Amino acid sequence: MTAPGEHPPGPAASPGAPLPPRPWALLAELTHGCPLHCPYCSNPLELTRRSAELTTEQWVDALRQAAGLGVVSAHLSGGEPLLRSDLAEIVAAADGAGIHTQLVTSGVGLGRDRLGRLADAGLRSVQLSVQHADPGANDRIAGRRSFAAKERAAALVRDSGLPLGLNVVLHRHNLDALDELIDLATAWGADRIELANTQFYGWALRNRAELLPSREQLARAERTVRRRRAELAGRTELVWVVPDYFDGKAKPCMGGWGAVSLTITPDGTTLPCPAAAVLPGLDAPNVRDRPLAWIWDHSPAFTRYRGTEWMREPCRGCALREQDFGGCRCQAFALTGDAAATDPACRLSPDHALVRDLVAAPPEGAPAGLGRPRKPARRAPAAPKGAR
Ligand code: SF4
Ligand code: FES
Repeated sequence: MTAPGEHPPGPAASPGAPLPPRPWALLAELTHGCPLHCPYCSNPLELTRRSAELTTEQWVDALRQAAGLGVVSAHLSGGEPLLRSDLAEIVAAADGAGIHTQLVTSGVGLGRDRLGRLADAGLRSVQLSVQHADPGANDRIAGRRSFAAKERAAALVRDSGLPLGLNVVLHRHNLDALDELIDLATAWGADRIELANTQFYGWALRNRAELLPSREQLARAERTVRRRRAELAGRTELVWVVPDYFDGKAKPCMGGWGAVSLTITPDGTTLPCPAAAVLPGLDAPNVRDRPLAWIWDHSPAFTRYRGTEWMREPCRGCALREQDFGGCRCQAFALTGDAAATDPACRLSPDHALVRDLVAAPPEGAPAGLGRPRKPARRAPAAPKGAR
């Protein structure tokens, strides 16, 4: 391990070789610890232990390096980032380096004093997750009573004057409650509502049979979004993250591999996207061992699927290859076992039947159990005294 700011040099860039585009966004997964157990959690199946997390100094160093690379925006996420008692120090380090921070939280554990300290440290906005507009359904999906804590957290953020966003991961068990969810978000004072259809890798892939919506549900939801967008225009931003299984189009995952953003996981593993650790042979670098600039510019993990050179047909000759970048590498691997394959969500993929058959006959009726297996119900350690 190296001390903050000291790193072994990476290999020299080939003389005259153009540098890749600079990243502007960082997803900082501060911890995998979390009081909730959502069945679609974006954390990997194998979670990082709390004892293996980066120290405060290592996060401070990583944020300074990220700013040096061009990063201007960081999502401080988890797990539940409030479990880090040094969160205000991390926010202050980012702010001091010129990075705007958004706290991505379940709201559980957010008290007035804690929020005040975060705001004083330079926090710029809060994104609060909500599972359902109905408190009981919210708590069933989250795997823990949490609705009341979310409501309190929303009120605190609104009182603080910080911008508030609500994030809802959509699936079979809440898509029909879209109107109510949007009503809830506006009643709680959200400036922005992100309606993100479940992306099926990691925990969501494992729980896909219970989460996959029907085509009819999605069609109704899309009509609702169009209607509510028109009503809320100029007041509340409504973001709809499309469900790529259903429309035959690959999504431009992460804005392209190693093109605009990077993810640092709780133990310092640095990846082009939060799910990439499972890709075979990726040789994921770690910010404890290597400078972030080397990781971004030269590491095999970041260069492997950057640009279009790595593509095979049909992507290689496709007019859309620089718009969707061949789709999602993690989804291609999860469904075909080949991370360099065309994303099967694309109707031109030779593997498209894998997705088409799935959505042609989604499971019917209410499931017996909601989203099992879940992210483990590991008890998050209590926040240290004074942390709330
Ligand atoms: Fe995108 Fe490849 Fe499909 Fe073309 S063939 S639309 S580049 S995923
Ligand atoms: Fe990893 Fe799409 S989630 S590339």
